[in-house]
Amino acid sequence: MSIAIHHGNCLALLDDVPPESVDAIITDPPYGQTSLEWDRWVDGWPEVMARVLKPTGSIWVFGTLRMFMDRRDEFSGWKFAQDIVWEKHNGSSFHSDRFRRVHEQAAQFYRGEWGSVWKGKVVTMDAERRTVTRKKGRPAHMGIIEGATYTSEDGGPRIMRSVIYARSQHGRTIHPTQKPEAIVEPLILNACPPGGVVLDPFAGSGTTGAVAARLGRRAILIEGRNDYVSALRARFSGDLLLAGGTT
Ligand SMILES: C[S@@+](CC[C@H](N)C(=O)[O-])C[C@H]1O[C@@H](n2cnc3c(N)ncnc32)[C@H](O)[C@@H]1O
Repeated sequence: MSIAIHHGNCLALLDDVPPESVDAIITDPPYGQTSLEWDRWVDGWPEVMARVLKPTGSIWVFGTLRMFMDRRDEFSGWKFAQDIVWEKHNGSSFHSDRFRRVHEQAAQFYRGEWGSVWKGKVVTMDAERRTVTRKKGRPAHMGIIEGATYTSEDGGPRIMRSVIYARSQHGRTIHPTQKPEAIVEPLILNACPPGGVVLDPFAGSGTTGAVAARLGRRAILIEGRNDYVSALRARFSGDLLLAGGTT
């Protein structure tokens, strides 16, 4: 599987990506909520990304509720599909007068018709044995609910829960906000077909690329900082093909 690594500002570099060539965008942008030097919201990036996404594509964006509320106008051209909660094993205590935060979120958006968006079924193998008959229906805020009777087996597949526990990355990480692969994997399985192309315009240490390659997807990674680009090149040297990258 190929991974293309591009160094520079994603807003400018996206001109090199052909229109409607990307199956899914999975990204963890700067939230603009810390004093880290690179953590500055990039104005207009959600709209710029839309050009390269296939009509069947969607975008998963990591963030916090505060970020999505502060930046809601930036997503006005997008339709909200769903969100997941990443439950971490530890958290941050920025404020002694608020709850200890042990979660972040990721939200999925799309442009055209929900029925045309590619959707991979993501399951966990923890079903309990039971038979369920589901009536046909269509709640206004959801898609079509198919009527069916199905029997699940103990330890069989069950649609993955939207609250996903994954240990935060600590210690020997490349990046200070490096995401665990376990939280990126369900998003790629959900949004990008096998063999398809995933774009991460804020690649950091390249978690999206690593998971994409392992799952048989191609990846385009864009990162603005020299040091992280060097780390990306080191991480993906060896058996992975570096194709189409610029420096
Ligand atoms: C939250 S981090 C991504 C971390 C990544 N998910 C990981 O697991 O390592 C966001 C990254 O976006 C990069 N960045 C910020 N502005 C950028 C821009 N305009 N173009 C490209 N990269 C940018 C930062 O340098 C930072 O590494």
